[in-house]
Amino acid sequence: MRRPIIAGNWKMHKTIPEAERLVAELKTLVPPGGPAEVVLCPPFTALAAVAGALKGTGWGVGAQDMFWEEKGAFTGEISPGMLRDAGCTHVIIGHSERRQYFGETDGTVHRKVRAALGAGLVPIVCVGETLAQREAGETEALVVSQVEAALEGLTAADLERLVVAYEPVWAIGTGRNATPGDANAVAALIRRTVGKQWGAEAAARLRIQYGGSVKPENVEELMREPEIDGALVGGASLEAPAFARIIAGAAPER
Ligand code: 13P
Repeated sequence: MRRPIIAGNWKMHKTIPEAERLVAELKTLVPPGGPAEVVLCPPFTALAAVAGALKGTGWGVGAQDMFWEEKGAFTGEISPGMLRDAGCTHVIIGHSERRQYFGETDGTVHRKVRAALGAGLVPIVCVGETLAQREAGETEALVVSQVEAALEGLTAADLERLVVAYEPVWAIGTGRNATPGDANAVAALIRRTVGKQWGAEAAARLRIQYGGSVKPENVEELMREPEIDGALVGGASLEAPAFARIIAGAAPER
């Protein structure tokens, strides 16, 4: 049984006091010990405060990016060890906004995934196609190549520790989510891709999230799909009532 994982990607939102208020409100709304693993991914500046506020809850704290080197002359960068130091358990890697605006490539994603695993962080590895790629019928080839590049050289044991997030770029922040069936089909493709290289057991254990306009209203139908094990939530994770409802909808009867 794969445990559902709901992660909130706050992107470039929330000051430290705002982050603390959001966490405090979430803690009152989400009963402890639910079926889903919950991870909050605030901006770097709020990581330590959020990690402190979450002590004892069992929830994870994730960064939204990192560099692969441990230390050195890399002005502006943050290492895996520094994330651990700030209380992180997880790190989002290869988000489409980083690929689109900050020059992230399959090659840099791969180095970051390895470094995160090496530091004991759980990478949430993002893949997904743009609207132009989908319309050109390139979704499958693109997603397979992103997954293969990101996970190249990993062991089956590594795969058990990471999470893959399928986020179609055209569904991010647009209010236009993939249909549950479409999202499930790509998640199944990701699982088959992993199965080919690492075997059926590793594939069956891999957790795959869907991301892109996940809301309280659509989370249950997405989570009912057999290949989807969680959600990576942007906008709807910034308001406690909405995110609490998403967490509550993470484990519907299938
Ligand atoms: P939205 O939920 O705002 O569409 O963002 C999705 C996303 O990019 C999460 O990483």
